Amino acid sequence: MSVVGVLTAGGDCPGLNAVIRAVTARVADHPDSEVVGIRNGWEGLMEGDTIPLDRDSVRGILTRGGTILGTSRMDPYVHGDGYQSCSRTIKRNGIDSLVVIGGDGTLRSALKLSQEGLPVVGVPKTIDNDIAGTDTTFGFSTAVQIATDAIDRLASTAESHNRVIVVEVMGRTKGWIATHAGIAGGADAIIIPEVPYDLAETADIVRSRHRRGQRYSIVVVGEGVQPPPGTKKKGARKDAFGFDRLGGISYRIAEQLEEMTGFETRVSVLGHIQRGGTPSAFDRVLATRLGVAAADYALAGKNGVMAAVRGTEIVPVSIEEACAEIRGVPADLYETAKTFFG
Ligand code: F6P
Repeated sequence: MSVVGVLTAGGDCPGLNAVIRAVTARVADHPDSEVVGIRNGWEGLMEGDTIPLDRDSVRGILTRGGTILGTSRMDPYVHGDGYQSCSRTIKRNGIDSLVVIGGDGTLRSALKLSQEGLPVVGVPKTIDNDIAGTDTTFGFSTAVQIATDAIDRLASTAESHNRVIVVEVMGRTKGWIATHAGIAGGADAIIIPEVPYDLAETADIVRSRHRRGQRYSIVVVGEGVQPPPGTKKKGARKDAFGFDRLGGISYRIAEQLEEMTGFETRVSVLGHIQRGGTPSAFDRVLATRLGVAAADYALAGKNGVMAAVRGTEIVPVSIEEACAEIRGVPADLYETAKTFFG
């Protein structure tokens, strides 16, 4: 008899339900095995809030956004007693291995719990695409498509009005969505946290475009960039768990650009629309493959690892490797995007 637990923690992400479905179906295929869902991330594990999952309870969820298990940003080491209450729920439910679907913060807690002896298998999740040890994360493709569609739409209205539009996309500390959506949407400038920026250069790009008869400019900004020099650093508002609430930096960038160029500059902050709704076909497939692999590791008692993408393969990497850094946009990818600025 083998019992596999599954939880989703941190910000939600398109494809979470596809992973839950894949883990459940794979375990259900295995004789004498069961799946226990944990509600609301680490919070449910600390409080013993569980729900049995079987093949029928996960039918029809592949295409649904969000997570049927619920999620939260509660961290057992920050908001609870760490290992103690988590291991109590694990023991009480006879869980042999816990599949943790989460981003960098969640995986760091999973690593600590695993180092204290909890049997944990990770699945990398985030629209931000910034987890180390894996080439990519599910949710990213969907977010990039949504942001690209938005850029296409914004370009057409900007052109009608001879305007500059600053499009702000998510990415807490890294500019993956900004870079990919910027390339896909033909952005005239992309500002990301990994690369120091100078608004005077962006203003030059905008002026030169308009001199050449282009009637609009699109500037894509990653939400995690530092405020432009000369603007006051506002104290970030916090969420219920003490994390900074991002979003809005592009208003300050737009204000300065308008002053520098004289062109009317508007802002569109895409926000949570990038995280909601149905996953792209790519993310459905990726999430399914990661979920099946994670279930296999869990059933084989291969704990302390994360299912990761390497090239075209799904392979186990240590959770420690996944937590070693927050993976940023490589310089050569940004250089490729830069070729098309202006
Ligand atoms: O980490 C994923 C993410 O969507 C970031 O891009 C964003 O900064 C953050 O979550 C927003 O989180 P919340 O919904 O908790 O404000």
